[in-house]
Amino acid sequence: MSGLLITYGRSHTPRGGLRTNPLGKRELKTSARLLHSRCQEAYSLIRTTPPTEQILSTQAEKVAQALASKIGTCETNLLTYILLTSMQIHHTPTLHHQKRVAELCRRISDELGTNNGKTTLLVAAAVIHDTGKLLIPTNLLDQRQDLSPSEIRIIKEGHLLFGFHLLRLFGYSEEVTELVGHHHAMNGNNPEGLINRPISTEGQILIAADHFDALTNGRGYRDGNFSTKKVAIEEISRLPIEREIIDALESLAVPSASAGRTRTR
Ligand SMILES: [Fe+2]
Ligand SMILES: [Fe+2]
Repeated sequence: MSGLLITYGRSHTPRGGLRTNPLGKRELKTSARLLHSRCQEAYSLIRTTPPTEQILSTQAEKVAQALASKIGTCETNLLTYILLTSMQIHHTPTLHHQKRVAELCRRISDELGTNNGKTTLLVAAAVIHDTGKLLIPTNLLDQRQDLSPSEIRIIKEGHLLFGFHLLRLFGYSEEVTELVGHHHAMNGNNPEGLINRPISTEGQILIAADHFDALTNGRGYRDGNFSTKKVAIEEISRLPIEREIIDALESLAVPSASAGRTRTR
């Protein structure tokens, strides 16, 4: 997991944090397990209720408080480690998806010649953009059909809102939380009014990379089939994303899809 650590120079204090001791590896893993179990408890509390933004943000607050009482003050890179370890416990395909999307974002930025401080934030956001899926039970994430309208909504909108609020409460920067909150903005899944600003270039890169990976590595909630690079580019071209970003993505050599990689987005 050490290769996943991302530092972008901002200390983080989860709300309610009291301690400043550095965390050892064992404590980090225990914290990841705690985060995972608290997220699952949050889901069991809301599974019979329509997942409104208020309910999701309240649950995110409870989860953040539980973690803060365990770890206190924590550097952002350590918190990212906890989030990724928790995702590894919960749903490894989503962890791999996040890593591929982060790498794709970096490569697109390199191709555009815009790799700078904003790209560091973009990559930091990309690697945790689906954190909200910690809320959603694995069987729902892996289920391809027979989902109820409420389950579909909690997967599509719930993971976005829960992740957005969780990262905000954890003290991630506004830039990172905004990128995460926008990552389905062009897919009809971004709850209106969450962020009232146009989507930045970095936000568009994240959306393009997320779509591309979901399509070429198998798309959840549909049929688990994989698209070729050509088909994926055609589909992404229909989104209101700057042409240069799509051209940059198209020019990259990307590994072909493997049936062994489980779909997620
Ligand atoms: Fe997502
Ligand atoms: Fe995603």
